[in-house]
Amino acid sequence: MRKKLVAGNWKMHGGLAENAALLAALKPALAGIEAVVCVPFPYLAQAQAELAGSSITWGAQNVSEQAKGAFTGEVSASMLLDFGCTYVIVGHSERRSLYGESDELVAKKYLAAQAAGLTPILCVGESLAERESGVTEAVVARQLDAVINAAGVVSLAKAVVAYEPVWAIGTGKTASQEQAQAVHAFIRGKIAALDADVADQLVIQYGGSVKAANAAELMVQSDIDGGLIGGASLVADEFIAICRAAAK
Ligand code: PGA
Repeated sequence: MRKKLVAGNWKMHGGLAENAALLAALKPALAGIEAVVCVPFPYLAQAQAELAGSSITWGAQNVSEQAKGAFTGEVSASMLLDFGCTYVIVGHSERRSLYGESDELVAKKYLAAQAAGLTPILCVGESLAERESGVTEAVVARQLDAVINAAGVVSLAKAVVAYEPVWAIGTGKTASQEQAQAVHAFIRGKIAALDADVADQLVIQYGGSVKAANAAELMVQSDIDGGLIGGASLVADEFIAICRAAAK
């Protein structure tokens, strides 16, 4: 059986005191459950100090495609490793739409993360206009192909894919379990056509307005292997309930 994995994406939220309270609540409640928190860069040291030795791992929300050099404001994969990161989100829709990250740049970031030994959480997903014009699968396929062409399908054995329909992120509108399952099955099928073993093992998370109240119905879908959780990952009880629903 594939494992289920829930990751919290804190986005640009938090502060030392708030994070300490949140992590202190998560740690005992999630003992024995593998979960991830992706925190803003300045709080990686805090996550490392608070979470070392627990079943919760931590990661970042972005990474430079460059290894080192004169790239003001950027953070390299090896720097993330210095703070014990296991995961890094690449290609989140906010990075793609607000910061102009192209499929090619996302593929470079994915490669840089894997080269350093980090597990990328590769986000894919269509906008509302794309869904309404019937190109959801084409968009997701294009986003996946950019990475598969650059890194090879086998690289997905050391990655997580997160399907996040852009219209469901932070909007309170979740994809229905049928809508989500259909795209997850499409993703797995596309990868299975290239490598059945990789497809079978690949963790494909769903993201977009997942909450305690809708987690269970999503997590029981056969191709949904966990979630990437934004807003609800900032509320201890919500995130704990979502992780427990996935672990069932
Ligand atoms: P949301 O965000 O859960 O707040 O919709 C998900 C994400 O952006 O990863």
